Amino acid sequence: MANQGDALRHWVRAKTDEATREVLSQRLEGTRVLAVTSGKGGVGKSSLVLNLALALADQKQRVVILDADLGLANINIMLGYEPLYTLWDVVEKRVSLRQTVEVGPNNIHIIPGGSGVTELARLDAVEIHHIIDAFHELERDYDWLLIDTGAGIADSVLAFVLAADEALVVTNPEPTAMADAYGLIKAVWEQDGQVSLKLVMNRTKTRDQGVRLGNRLADLAQKALGQSVEFIGQVMDDPVVARAIVKQEPFLTAYPHSEAAHDVKSLADRLLNRVPPPRRGGWGAFVRRLLENWPRDISQDRR
Ligand SMILES: Nc1ncnc2c1ncn2[C@@H]1O[C@H](COP(=O)(O)OP(=O)(O)OP(=O)(O)O)[C@@H](O)[C@H]1O
Ligand SMILES: [Mg+2]
Repeated sequence: MANQGDALRHWVRAKTDEATREVLSQRLEGTRVLAVTSGKGGVGKSSLVLNLALALADQKQRVVILDADLGLANINIMLGYEPLYTLWDVVEKRVSLRQTVEVGPNNIHIIPGGSGVTELARLDAVEIHHIIDAFHELERDYDWLLIDTGAGIADSVLAFVLAADEALVVTNPEPTAMADAYGLIKAVWEQDGQVSLKLVMNRTKTRDQGVRLGNRLADLAQKALGQSVEFIGQVMDDPVVARAIVKQEPFLTAYPHSEAAHDVKSLADRLLNRVPPPRRGGWGAFVRRLLENWPRDISQDRR
């Protein structure tokens, strides 16, 4: 009996080691950098970023959000807190990048971009190295970096999209939002972006509508531009999204059984388990590309 017990313990330990090795080997591949962006404003990027982060955290992923909307940083408002520091405090060496990190529900982390993002253009070489080092220091802590960008094709928005491994282009079914999503895809294509583009239809009235419009836009981009965009999912129009914003809580925790929560969980599952992760060098490469692409004069930025 004792021998059998020993054998069993040995087997369990070997299996556990194997599982740990597998998890570690996945983690050592580096952070997966995903920008969430849109042509038109107000289509649901920030809600999606926050709730997608939670859905990924539910699947044991370590997630950090960079709140990088230069105009209106929204993630902190959606969670009802006031950030103590922003990236600018890191540039000014008042605090380390780790000290700017806020801890949200389900242990998701948030880096408030704030004015630090706007000021990236003014950094000198020493400050650029400092920021790159600061990001490198955190690379091993996370499996995912989700970036909530502003809307539109301003150079400062495109810089985030072009620097990321992959970008979710969010649109809703309205013709204006669809046209602006196409405009954004075209702008990325014109810059010869290597980023892997994925389309998400938000606020769909029926699932058929989501599939039809999602495929139509992806086909159009492929035929007219030769730009491949994968339609990867939809989130139904659901009143709980607005209710959760008023409660300053993510809908995934406030209304876990809602349709919107179900859709975001499916999207997380799809990203994690069903589409091959595009790797372009992780977080370090992302920061380098971002600083290379960053517009020199943000006041001249295209809107
Ligand atoms: N699936 C949905 N169902 C119903 N309402 C939604 C859904 N997604 C977003 N909304 C509504 O749309 C509004 C805008 O959402 P959100 O702030 O996430 O958009 P955004 O793209 O980040 O906007 P901005 O471009 O201003 O940053 C929210 O107030 C929310 O109520
Ligand atoms: Mg937003």
